[in-house]
Amino acid sequence: MIDPAEYPLWNSPAMNAYLKTVSPETMLVEGRGVRVRDRGGRWLLDARSGLWNVTLGYDNQRVIAAMKQQLDTLPYANLIGYGRPSGISMEAANALLPHLPEHLTKIRYCSNGSQAVETAVLLSRFLHRVRGEPERTTVFGMWRGFHGLGAGGGALTGIPYVHYQAGPLLPGVLHGSGPFETHGDGTASGLEQAMADHGPERISAVVVEPIVGEGAHVLTEDYLRSLADFCRVNGIHLIIDEVTTGMGRTGAFTRCGQLGVRPDILTLGKGLTSGYAALSAVVLSDEIYEQVRALPYDQQFFIGSTNDGHPVALAASMAVVEVLTTDRVLDNVQRSGAELFQRLSDVAKRHPHVTAIRGTGLMYAIELSEPDLLRLAMEARGVLVSTLAKWPAIVIIPPLVVSDDEVEEIVVALDQALDEVANL
Ligand SMILES: Cc1ncc(COP(=O)(O)O)c(C=O)c1O
Repeated sequence: MIDPAEYPLWNSPAMNAYLKTVSPETMLVEGRGVRVRDRGGRWLLDARSGLWNVTLGYDNQRVIAAMKQQLDTLPYANLIGYGRPSGISMEAANALLPHLPEHLTKIRYCSNGSQAVETAVLLSRFLHRVRGEPERTTVFGMWRGFHGLGAGGGALTGIPYVHYQAGPLLPGVLHGSGPFETHGDGTASGLEQAMADHGPERISAVVVEPIVGEGAHVLTEDYLRSLADFCRVNGIHLIIDEVTTGMGRTGAFTRCGQLGVRPDILTLGKGLTSGYAALSAVVLSDEIYEQVRALPYDQQFFIGSTNDGHPVALAASMAVVEVLTTDRVLDNVQRSGAELFQRLSDVAKRHPHVTAIRGTGLMYAIELSEPDLLRLAMEARGVLVSTLAKWPAIVIIPPLVVSDDEVEEIVVALDQALDEVANL
């Protein structure tokens, strides 16, 4: 517990509850491998990868060395204007593109995931407008989808609380139900139906996560293909938001590449730098890029922010690509992910209050009615996990370099914590 008067930040949405959990001893001061140490001297296994982004753990020397070298040579250059981008911007993009689906050919770097989604959505509207379809302004998201908390990303996020707290956010955004929703009255239409009802000719784009983070709902290949077909037939841009799932989380650079689903625009963030610096990316299909390129100079899409594509972040992202491709990290995700899922399923069988386990790669939700208590019980056993905005689950989403012994540690802590919660 910390005295609010002594705390100089207001960094949590639930400040009063949050401050009860903060104390000088619990503040984090060091990270090594998949663990973080607090000021009280306690090491914790970070099975939430920071905020789902520290994919390579806290002391990857190749990433750190690349960032240091960039700091020593050119610590800043901007990507927006004056025609003098950093050299590292081209090198980083050229290093990443071969690992993305082949039809995705051009990258715009931004600073965070919300901004990437907002950029993708605004670009979609812009293209429809300048290409003679100004009535296409509606953008659809999925209920429970998460795309950030600001005016653009927050509007897309399918959690009503986010809209009401300081709305109106970006206008013209609607939501449809994902295939995992169960509605008491059985009347809710799915996302595709909601778009059909709205009028596809008024829709600019739809934004979906291939695995909906709020509950780790894995959208199937069939579902995503059907959505992609609907979009193609109706002239709607498909924006796949892989801020969480991209950069190795599912055992591949992208989930859409893994499934063979073709977005018009892809967004990446989080694991792009393994959390070592702020960076995100909007990746365009060649078709979309050709439309952008064909526009006259006075009709360009003018957007960007001072720190977009910061050279030190780009150096980190280039090193991350190298580590993912040379250190068999993706193999580790597939192997230890399968092991983790098997072990979690075994544990769940022993605990009837677990109502579901879902996920793939190294991203699993464990559903139960008391996720906050379970999170605290796991923390007491030295393992950090996430809870969600509204879905009753904890999420286990460890760094992609997690070892067999560390998987075991997570599973044992979960098993014991579930016992504790059941006996409360
Ligand atoms: C799928 C997805 N999109 C967008 C965002 C927003 O990213 P950021 O917090 O970097 O703005 C998140 C963050 O959790 C996310 O999970």
